[in-house]
Amino acid sequence: MKCIRTKVIGSGHYLPAKVLTNDDLSKMVDTNDEWISTRTGIRSRHIVAEGELTSDIALKALEMAMKNANISKDDLDIIIVATLTPDNTTPTVAARIAGKLGVKSGTPAFDLGAACSGFVYAMTMADNMIRLGQVKTAAVIGVETLSNIVNWEDRNTCVLFGDGAGAVIVQASEGEGTSKDQGVLATRIYADGTQYDNLGTDGGIATTRTAGYVHMNGKEVFKFAVGAMSEASHAVLNDAGVTTADIDWLLPHQANIRIISSVGQKLEVPEEKVIVTVDHHGNTSAASIPLAISESIANGKIKSGDLVLIPAMGAGFTWGGMLIRF
Ligand code: ACO
Repeated sequence: MKCIRTKVIGSGHYLPAKVLTNDDLSKMVDTNDEWISTRTGIRSRHIVAEGELTSDIALKALEMAMKNANISKDDLDIIIVATLTPDNTTPTVAARIAGKLGVKSGTPAFDLGAACSGFVYAMTMADNMIRLGQVKTAAVIGVETLSNIVNWEDRNTCVLFGDGAGAVIVQASEGEGTSKDQGVLATRIYADGTQYDNLGTDGGIATTRTAGYVHMNGKEVFKFAVGAMSEASHAVLNDAGVTTADIDWLLPHQANIRIISSVGQKLEVPEEKVIVTVDHHGNTSAASIPLAISESIANGKIKSGDLVLIPAMGAGFTWGGMLIRF
């Protein structure tokens, strides 16, 4: 049966110029390349320059996505930004981008907070609004400057994170209502607030009047992430009536190579079909998925027609999944 599908018509990304390697980190805290790379798969990450804001890097990713989608700022009906590191507490990064880009007055723009699952949440919002006919063309951005909330003296956490931005332009298109359609085929989002203390910051506006530093219970996060991302993956595959054998790529949130590999093994997806960018991006939270999407389209891995399974998990805990045919 004919239906509206949310099609990805362009993607873009931006990584700050400064690269911080594991060797650089070993001069800052008591760590070494061997410890970091074997436990996390991370070799380097990008870090914003002094004065380089979350909205600055988000705008660069968005401009690339708009160029690739061949649309102008006047075509945008909404801007949704997933982030946990906004320029200011309020207004939003989305509003800042709308102003910097000069989109027409009245265009809705908002930020959404679901930590590392933020981009899956944001795409779910965009997909629902498009299928309801409320908007036709949406900019969905995942962006973080996690270097601003990392304690650079804590080796347990500072080695894990990086900065970056990714964006997609999605647009309403007509589908046949089958899994062969191009576009978002299924999304699922979840949360469990009883896991609040296992991953987050140790401060915030109402608690300490500071942003706080990232802290986590690494072992609990690891265990939960593998199960949650696998279950969310099965849910969206089931919703779309396909199996892991049908997918071209598994593109999980890029937290840690061991989490990524475990999810791949649990889902029985061969290693060569798993997209990995954590080695040179680190964990960029809400930016990790759109960064990996844009980079994989740019380097020719993800091609038109490919079916991509995208699970995520983050603080909250939040988690979710989406299945997109590009
Ligand atoms: N360099 C050297 N040694 C370190 C470092 C470091 N950077 N960090 C910790 N250590 C030490 C610890 O102090 C500890 O030493 P001790 O035994 O003398 O006390 C030892 O290494 C072992 O520490 P563990 O925490 O047990 O190490 P583990 O093997 O669990 O690995 C890690 C830690 C990589 C964080 C792991 O728990 C993990 O993969 N967790 C998943 C969580 C994750 O990746 N989170 C990212 C954010 S969440 C998300 O995006 C979903």
